[in-house]
Amino acid sequence: MRAGGLAALPTETVYGLAADAGNAQAVATLYAAKGRPRFNPLIAHVADATQARALGVFEARADALAEAFWPGPLTLVVPHRAASGAGVCELARAGLDTVAVRAPAHPVMQAVLRAVDTPLAAPSANPSGALSPTSARDVARALGAAVDVILNADEAPETAAYGVESTIVAISSAGATLLRPGPITEHRLQEVLGAPLLRDTPDGTDRPQSPGRLARHYAPQRARLRLNAAAADRGEVYLGFGPGPHAVLTLSPSGDINEAAQRLFRCLRVMDEAGFARVAVAPIPDEGLGAAINDRLRRAASDKNPG
Ligand code: TXA
Ligand code: MG
Repeated sequence: MRAGGLAALPTETVYGLAADAGNAQAVATLYAAKGRPRFNPLIAHVADATQARALGVFEARADALAEAFWPGPLTLVVPHRAASGAGVCELARAGLDTVAVRAPAHPVMQAVLRAVDTPLAAPSANPSGALSPTSARDVARALGAAVDVILNADEAPETAAYGVESTIVAISSAGATLLRPGPITEHRLQEVLGAPLLRDTPDGTDRPQSPGRLARHYAPQRARLRLNAAAADRGEVYLGFGPGPHAVLTLSPSGDINEAAQRLFRCLRVMDEAGFARVAVAPIPDEGLGAAINDRLRRAASDKNPG
């Protein structure tokens, strides 16, 4: 990593593709490996809040959230601290004056961060716009040739991952804005903040605050999704949730929302690899991780092309 290489690393959400966030050359290689548009900034991963405060300006709300949820699946977008030397290069921030930071909880990721001792820019380890990887094998298949090393933690039982990406919250003078639903639910965020979160509405230029929140994302290559389906129509296969109509595959046989999140990207990948063209997806309750699942499903089903 110090020499500018790319490593796929496990986190408690999905696998990330990591590069030294201060090394513009390495970050450029990372964007190229993912085919990611350069206007879409990366999350800087750090070991803890102390390292995060060297990269960004933390006011009371950011401090409270970091205190409550780090290390863990929460990303905070805060003003970039310009005087922070190497830190997070401009390319990793896509030229913005804010920086996204997160202290992941996964023990392997924590060990790497402490050993490397520099912030790591790490987007999900998938080609831009495609399904996020929930296993080392997913990474190898989608990006193998472009990655120097993959740390495989699939067999580590104590590190079962959430399966969906971190919650992203932007902190500004106006308040806290939910940019991406994830494992830390809106309800838990509100409990800590003592106030409702603002919504990521277009700012008049029709551009969401989070540049990566493109309509179509997390998308299977072939399968087209129909959401909130009570059953499959002719020519469709059914992706179920809980006991119900005959399903080719189910997100969770018992209707467990956490299991559904863990299995979401894998099930979509399996449907895709099997060559199914039309998939009907069972309704998923919006509670807990359900909000994040439904967010990803809506984007996966969107016809709109990435801007
Ligand atoms: O769980 C996760 O967050 C995973 C693991 C690997 O840590 N990472 C991940 O990264 O999901 P990525 O690059 O796939 O998604 C990062 C999102 C993008 O939508 C990006 O636009 C947004 O974070 N983002 C990054 N910096 C931002 C900033 N300064 N302002 C607003 N959004 C930002
Ligand atoms: Mg991603």
